Amino acid sequence: MKILQFPSARLRIVAKKIINITDEVKENLNSMLDIMYQQKGIGLAATQVNIHQRMIVLDVSEKQNQAQKLINPVIVEKFDIQEEEEGCLSVPEFRAKIPRAKKIIFSYVDEENNSFQKEAEGLLAICIQHEIDHLNGKLFIDYLSQAKRQQIRTMLKKKRKK
Ligand code: NI
Repeated sequence: MKILQFPSARLRIVAKKIINITDEVKENLNSMLDIMYQQKGIGLAATQVNIHQRMIVLDVSEKQNQAQKLINPVIVEKFDIQEEEEGCLSVPEFRAKIPRAKKIIFSYVDEENNSFQKEAEGLLAICIQHEIDHLNGKLFIDYLSQAKRQQIRTMLKKKRKK
């Protein structure tokens, strides 16, 4: 598993809803968690590892011991606005403040196909919004100006050449 990096066109693919939670889906979720921890991320969407199915993993706990796997996550409702600095494993070494809902109600299914509806605030709410954006082919830098995105593209290109 490799993490796709901006400006890969594959990051723009809209992921499909998961109908059957197969062993392959479960294996992929575990591999996604492994690579997320390895890269010191707090969230990862399947899109980022070139799997175009609606699933994300995250762990916003301080000790990085509260892994969550969300299949077919959906934001049901959004409340208020917060603006915090975000980063992304697909846009390395770049951070920016992005406006997000402060509180969300979201739904998902787990690996046993149980449905949940929960509330999230703060960092967890940001992370879920960020990862669901990935499933829709959207990156956090899309909220910035085109000039800024071009700047990031040039910066990453230079870095890769080194
Ligand atoms: Ni990201």
